[in-house]
Amino acid sequence: MTFEANLQSLAARWSPSARWTVLTGAGISAASGIPTFRSVEGLWKNFKPEDLATPEAFARDPRRVWEWYDWRRQKIAAAFPNRGHEVLASWSQRQSGFRLITQNVDGLHERAGTASVIRFHGSIWEIRCAESCGGPGSSWTDPRAPLPELPMRCPDCRGLARPGVVWFGESIGADVLARSQEALDCDVCLVVGTSSVVYPAAGLASVARQRGAWTVEINPEPGAADVDLVIAGKAEEVLEKIDALIQRD
Ligand code: OAD
Repeated sequence: MTFEANLQSLAARWSPSARWTVLTGAGISAASGIPTFRSVEGLWKNFKPEDLATPEAFARDPRRVWEWYDWRRQKIAAAFPNRGHEVLASWSQRQSGFRLITQNVDGLHERAGTASVIRFHGSIWEIRCAESCGGPGSSWTDPRAPLPELPMRCPDCRGLARPGVVWFGESIGADVLARSQEALDCDVCLVVGTSSVVYPAAGLASVARQRGAWTVEINPEPGAADVDLVIAGKAEEVLEKIDALIQRD
């Protein structure tokens, strides 16, 4: 099938009552100027994400891990949602069965107006006591970028604080897993802008497919996701084209 025919076949499945679930990764935010993790410009001081986003890295050098997050927070704070985020937000408002699961911690889907985002890996804007001291101020949303002190400290116990994100080797929260599993009962599952190498997120599309969803990958360098159809292209361009093809209700 041609590129145009692929877009048509996806757009033809859209209806206000269809259940579409979209899984996104860093590629959806690339056009907003936020580097993806596994691109050259995404590397910070030549560290791989697997060398920074772990409890072990934080225990070894909390200041370095915080510097990386502060660098990403500043990039995100200066960014805006792009057309890809906007199209998905408009679908979330026009389709009652729409669900969005994102691996991104940047909050751009929410800023674009997407209803009830499932944040698989947490939020970079949330900070909590690394020791789980349980004090009343030990978990908070912090919009400051740059942050005033690195490493950040818990205001209650003065121990280390950490970003409210999921690190390699940590479990996904039970509530997030349950909501994600429920969202995988869908008619169409779109996998957008992820390298599909980090589990368990990378396995979600396969579950949707096994349950009967028609699965589609949108990525300029596709290949890793278990899907029925591949649309090779940038999310912000492909989603805009599909939106233009969808019959207005
Ligand atoms: P990656 O950096 O691994 O992959 C980004 C994907 O986006 C690649 O497949 C690119 O081809 C694609 N891409 C680039 N530009 C794009 C565009 N304009 N439109 C669509 N796709 C584009 O990022 P993730 O797959 O999100 O986890 O990484 C998964 C996880 O690894 C992250 O959530 C994070 C990271 O370490 C943790 O920190 C636990």
